[in-house]
Amino acid sequence: MRNKFIAGNWKMQGSLATNPALLHSVAAGAATLPTVTMAVMTPFPYLPQVQALLAGSACAWGAQDVSEEAAGAFTGEVSVAMLQDMGCRYVIVGHSERRARHGESDARVGAKARAAIEGALIPIICLGETLAQREAGETLAVVHRQLDAVLEAVGVRRMPQAVLAYEPVWAIGTGRSATPAQVQEVHAALRSRVSNADWVVGAGLQILYGGSVKPSNALELMGLPDVDGALVGGASLVADDFLDIGRAAATA
Ligand code: 13P
Repeated sequence: MRNKFIAGNWKMQGSLATNPALLHSVAAGAATLPTVTMAVMTPFPYLPQVQALLAGSACAWGAQDVSEEAAGAFTGEVSVAMLQDMGCRYVIVGHSERRARHGESDARVGAKARAAIEGALIPIICLGETLAQREAGETLAVVHRQLDAVLEAVGVRRMPQAVLAYEPVWAIGTGRSATPAQVQEVHAALRSRVSNADWVVGAGLQILYGGSVKPSNALELMGLPDVDGALVGGASLVADDFLDIGRAAATA
């Protein structure tokens, strides 16, 4: 039985003034959900504040991206060691917004996942198809290609130190979640691809779903056999909604 994991992705939102109320509510709620891992991925500048407020709480934290380089002349980038300094446990890599806006290739996402694992951070590795790819019947080919790049960079034996997140691009921020059947199909396909390389690793792999997860659809999505949690965008900025999703995960 895999544990459920609910991760919030704040994206480029939050402020020094408003973060404490949200973080306190989430930490208090997380303490009532011992069977669910709860975490928030915040913008880099707030990590010291997040670390100060969440240290010792039931809610973990992390960042939304990381460099695959260890240190040096990489203006604007943030290293694994810096995230370790900020007490991060997790880091998102390969989010579709970074793949699309910053041209991150499958190979770069794999390198970032590897760097995170080598630095004892848990990468939450995002993959997913665009609407055009889905309509062209390419969904499984796309996510398999994205997954294969990760498996090549990381090696299947280290995949227990990573989390996958299936996020169909067309479901992100649109209010239109993928249907349970669509989600289950892709999650099962991802798991089976990893299982083909190593059955035990595939069976234990945590695969999150992301894309318009909200309290009203969380119970159904979290109850699917190959769904082990959620990567939550908009709803992670509203404490009650985020915690309702956590409660759904605990019940499902
Ligand atoms: P929404 O939950 O706002 O659709 O965002 C999903 C997402 O991109 C999480 O990483």
